[in-house]
Amino acid sequence: MCGIVGYIGHREAYPIILKGLKRLEYRGYDSAGIALYDGSDIKLSKTKGKVADLEARLEKEITTNGTLGIGHTRWATHGVPNDINSHPHYSNSGNLVIIHNGIIENYESLKKELIKRGYTFKSDTDTEVLVNLIEDVMKKENTKLGKAVQIALNQVVGAYAIAVFDKNKPNEIVVARLGSPLAIGIGDDEFFIASDASPFLEYTKNAIYLEDEEMAIVRRDKEVKIRKIKDDSPVAPYMQELQLNLEQIEKGGYDHFMLKEIYEQPRAILDTFRGRLRTNEAIIKMSGVEDNMKKFLNADRIIVVACGTSWHAGLVSEYIFEDLARIPVEVEYASEFRYRNPVITEKDLVIAISQSGETADTLAAIKLAKSKGAFVFGVCNVVGSSIARETDAGAYTHAGPEIGVASTKAFTTQITVLTLIALRLARAKGTISSSDYRHHLIELELIPSKVEKVLKSDDYVKTIANIYKDVKNFLYLGRGYNFPVALEGALKLKEISYIHAEGYPAAEMKHGPIALIDENMPIVVIATKKGHYDKVVSNIQEIKSRKGKIIGIVTEGDQQVKELADHVIEVPETLESLSPLVTTIPLQLLSYHIAVMLNKNVDQPRNLAKSVTVE
Ligand code: F6R
Repeated sequence: MCGIVGYIGHREAYPIILKGLKRLEYRGYDSAGIALYDGSDIKLSKTKGKVADLEARLEKEITTNGTLGIGHTRWATHGVPNDINSHPHYSNSGNLVIIHNGIIENYESLKKELIKRGYTFKSDTDTEVLVNLIEDVMKKENTKLGKAVQIALNQVVGAYAIAVFDKNKPNEIVVARLGSPLAIGIGDDEFFIASDASPFLEYTKNAIYLEDEEMAIVRRDKEVKIRKIKDDSPVAPYMQELQLNLEQIEKGGYDHFMLKEIYEQPRAILDTFRGRLRTNEAIIKMSGVEDNMKKFLNADRIIVVACGTSWHAGLVSEYIFEDLARIPVEVEYASEFRYRNPVITEKDLVIAISQSGETADTLAAIKLAKSKGAFVFGVCNVVGSSIARETDAGAYTHAGPEIGVASTKAFTTQITVLTLIALRLARAKGTISSSDYRHHLIELELIPSKVEKVLKSDDYVKTIANIYKDVKNFLYLGRGYNFPVALEGALKLKEISYIHAEGYPAAEMKHGPIALIDENMPIVVIATKKGHYDKVVSNIQEIKSRKGKIIGIVTEGDQQVKELADHVIEVPETLESLSPLVTTIPLQLLSYHIAVMLNKNVDQPRNLAKSVTVE
């Protein structure tokens, strides 16, 4: 989390950095700041609040000329969000200025040492410790900035992407990464630095992504020099051509990124199976799976590691893999898995799911699984992300950039990829008949148009949102494949509207949550025809007799639930195993509309950040 951006070249740095910060604001948005070199000194402005707050005050505070600068949008880890803890941070001499994304875990011991050596600190941040450590090395070792950064980072435990410059050498920015992403855009005699490529897309399509434990000296009018942090050895830069375009990262007429991304799902799902699902030939082709078929087929079990919404997609996949391919599956929160000494062997196949490909806990879980000899397969959205690179093989979702903090299209495209894998394995293992297999392929191909149809219920979902927007609690119930959808619906509502919501397996309701039900409690029940329909109808009756308000997600033409429920939202019929791809959509829309009606910041909900690169 935290977005970092920098520029060095021949243009005014300020507008480039400001626009870049707006694009990166999804990464963190509790404070923001910019430092510019104006030709003789550093001009710095920072504030608690959003990038818009910074923009409002910055031009009154400082002159904004200069062709070198760095900027930061923060998601607080050490120190509360306030003006002082905002980045950039100066070193004690005022010569160096730094921005940082990540956590320096041993900052307290480093700080004590520096205090003993006469350094003082204004903020509570680990970042201010790092910039002074670099300054201290420069003085002690009489070195230039680049070498001092390398020596200092060897004393640091933690994760970082940093950009730092020295006002006495205003022709270079030094950057480094360990565990947090950092891209360098290569223009004509100009360079851009950012947490992802979005800030510099309109200037260049050429980028170098730093690898972990690498640093780079980015010099005006010169090339980028990359070195290993550990031993200072040189690394040959690897330049990539970016496939992203500007349209993909803009709102395109929608009020919010979240709504745009909900509406993009038919296209995103189609893009995800395009070229892989060949219904006419009755084949599924995914090179990551084909190339490693033996690993998949010989695996004793699949362990899925993920966090948040990606974990919910993992839970859906448990049903799919077990049901279709008869492979035992365990779905683990990456944050728990990494610390509980799990039993993993070479016969395990681990699937790591992550939209961003940068989630620290998922990355750590992957490393642990690999160290025990397991084969790790990644399902990521962001191409070239840390998780995509750390895994042994993988399959991308082709959702396109997801910018709204609440994950939507990532979820449905993850389920799409996992379904394709399960079907391919089921075919290879002979656990599915050829007619059933074909039926699945045909139905999967129809999903984008079915999602399109569900989106047509948007206005109706909005009327339901208006009825329930002021309640304090929501319950979401589902069974089988739709139990994880209930969890996901509840998560969406919590994170963007701040209404307390719980997801439960419908039959578990009577073991506790039923006590919550009264006439004020809305309960969203996923009750599609395939699956455990009759059982869910019984659950609905139990709710009804306790006066709960029922919002049913039902199959088109359903009568039984319609008679019992207060509202029903219809979704087209599909196979039970594919139903999460359609039942999820109304739940996303419901939470979106409630949050908008409550005036919440839908794309940037409080306390959250899009990619959680810290523990
Ligand atoms: C919820 C949400 C988070 C993420 C979680 C994992 O809407 O966005 O729960 O799903 O932080 O992120 P990734 O998938 O990037 O690893």
